[in-house]
Amino acid sequence: MVEIEYGKIRVKLGDTDLVYEPAEDSFLLAEAAFKEVKPGMHILEVGTGSGFVSAVLLANLKDISLVATEINPHAARCAKANGVEVIRTDLFRGINPVNPEILFDLILFNPPYLPTSREERVPGWLNYAFDGGISGRETLDRFLDEVRNYLRPGGKILVLISSITGLGDVKDKMEKLGFAVDIVERKKVSFEELLVVKGEL
Ligand SMILES: C[S@@+](CC[C@H](N)C(=O)[O-])C[C@H]1O[C@@H](n2cnc3c(N)ncnc32)[C@H](O)[C@@H]1O
Repeated sequence: MVEIEYGKIRVKLGDTDLVYEPAEDSFLLAEAAFKEVKPGMHILEVGTGSGFVSAVLLANLKDISLVATEINPHAARCAKANGVEVIRTDLFRGINPVNPEILFDLILFNPPYLPTSREERVPGWLNYAFDGGISGRETLDRFLDEVRNYLRPGGKILVLISSITGLGDVKDKMEKLGFAVDIVERKKVSFEELLVVKGEL
């Protein structure tokens, strides 16, 4: 069983052919989230994968409530085994935006961000971890189109992207949707730079 140790916790990974193995992108999003989370916050992580980011927040921060979604059933099972309450669904489906009780203060997403052609797809559920479509932004764009419906007034989002995802396009879209945009973390990793983009309503 592969495990990752981070701060106070060990996250179990199960089969890394089926579930995304936390990497520099996951670590950068966790760091950004740490700085943003305050006691009492109601948090949603979309695409939680192994549950790494959510499990780290839950283990290290008191008095937060957190729920996650994940499309890959193997990853959803893994996240659950890591103590994360997870709904196996596409993005926000299954979360009722009409109920003000469930609007979130903070929503996190480390999406599939790589520009990917049909030939570059990997087999099986793991493809959802990488395949950002031709633009690299297909899943992220769908997320951004819907995310406001799930945020409280003044709520925030943190999204992880790469320099190859197209920061300009992501920023423009977020601003058009009414977010004030800021880059809160960045790290060069081999051929790309990873960035955490914060949007605040
Ligand atoms: C880059 S991985 C990140 C996983 C984890 N959050 C981390 O940081 O280690 C992207 C995750 O989003 C999930 N995902 C992709 N498309 C999704 C969708 N439409 N709805 C829910 N989850 C999705 C993938 O299955 C994968 O687990």
